Amino acid sequence: MARLTIRKVRKFYDKVEALKGIDLEVGEGEFCVFVGPSGCGKSTLLRSIAGLEDIDEGEIAIDGAVVNDLRPRDRDIAMVFQNYALYPFLTVFENIAFGLRARKTPDAEVRERVHRAAEMLGVTPFLDRTPRQLSGGQRQRVAIGRAVVRDARLFLFDEPLSNLDAQLRDGMRAEIKRLHQEIGKTTIYVTHDQIEAMTLADRIVLLRDGQIEQQGAPLDLFERPATRFVAGFLGSPQMNFIPCQLQNVDSRLEAMFADGRSLRLPSGQTKAISTYAGGSMILGVRPEHMRLATLGATARLNEAPLRALIDLVQPTGSRTYAQFRLDAVEVSVEMPAHSVERPGAEIDLLVDMDRVILIDPDTDHVIPHTTASSNTVASVSPKAAEAAL
Ligand SMILES: Nc1ncnc2c1ncn2[C@@H]1O[C@H](COP(=O)(O)OP(=O)(O)OP(=O)(O)O)[C@@H](O)[C@H]1O
Ligand SMILES: [Mg+2]
Repeated sequence: MARLTIRKVRKFYDKVEALKGIDLEVGEGEFCVFVGPSGCGKSTLLRSIAGLEDIDEGEIAIDGAVVNDLRPRDRDIAMVFQNYALYPFLTVFENIAFGLRARKTPDAEVRERVHRAAEMLGVTPFLDRTPRQLSGGQRQRVAIGRAVVRDARLFLFDEPLSNLDAQLRDGMRAEIKRLHQEIGKTTIYVTHDQIEAMTLADRIVLLRDGQIEQQGAPLDLFERPATRFVAGFLGSPQMNFIPCQLQNVDSRLEAMFADGRSLRLPSGQTKAISTYAGGSMILGVRPEHMRLATLGATARLNEAPLRALIDLVQPTGSRTYAQFRLDAVEVSVEMPAHSVERPGAEIDLLVDMDRVILIDPDTDHVIPHTTASSNTVASVSPKAAEAAL
């Protein structure tokens, strides 16, 4: 097991600054997920850790020892590449065995480990084939096999499930998590899929444009996003973002929308955000934090009523999502699966105001309010040789 420390790492590709000063600590045995939109620098950071990219500034240390000048093969890292990087002329068996052979592992042990990995990954029937005789998903599993047979101190995965169909992806995701639980190796896993990040990670590192936007435990990021970007990235369907004005009404703050509708904020929040009264805000609310006010139901203390005219209904099987307009914004709300509401229906919603966030439109930062606990480890950045592995 290993501890990874990244200090002030910068990386340029000519004039493109792919990493803009990354500071990160990954603890022993931790499962850390790098997530973020395409081009944000996930692969570059992972490849820099592996030693496949030379960094321009900063330090990368494993267990306290700086590895900047170590060759990839000497860093004792096993990596699964985004593009598989399999050897076309070797069999599946030899591809999986490659890292073990390179380290002069005894034959019997090679056989045992390869067969165990092949079983787990469901590629045993293909061990005698070459990669070109496999589908994309099968190749990806072989690439995973090549890494997991190794006894490396650090495991790096670059979008290992991106070419699998949905069912296989769910199965493999569970296998990878189980594998980590069993062997407990420090793992860094790259994905642009927020569900994968939420389900796998001990810690999510959300990258944006070469910088860390926020990092923390999955539920910390989900429940206490520091910026609009984080709030919008995690969660599906996305959080709704609705422009509003903060107004003081009877010494309580209300979020007023342009069409006259409003939501009253809990008194606990009023104090923390009173300096923003009179200003423009973005109100963020997740679809699951609004509920249909059924006949006779009473609102809880933290709930505020909102009347809505449904214009679209989207069943997904386990849940149904209804959409309505609030000013110019199309707002999505989660309903029971068998909801009978139809487009054109007027409904009464109750909004859980404890879960609502307010975003300063000038900075895109979430305004901290008193009801949220602040035990997050979030840090908000200012706006603004493969064969060896
Ligand atoms: N070899 C290269 N030469 C020049 N620019 C590069 C090179 N590799 C990456 N980049 C640029 O660096 C930035 C980060 O790329 P990177 O591959 O790390 O993104 P990513 O987050 O892994 O994206 P994806 O989700 O699409 O894989 C991008 O702007 C990309 O165009
Ligand atoms: Mg990538």
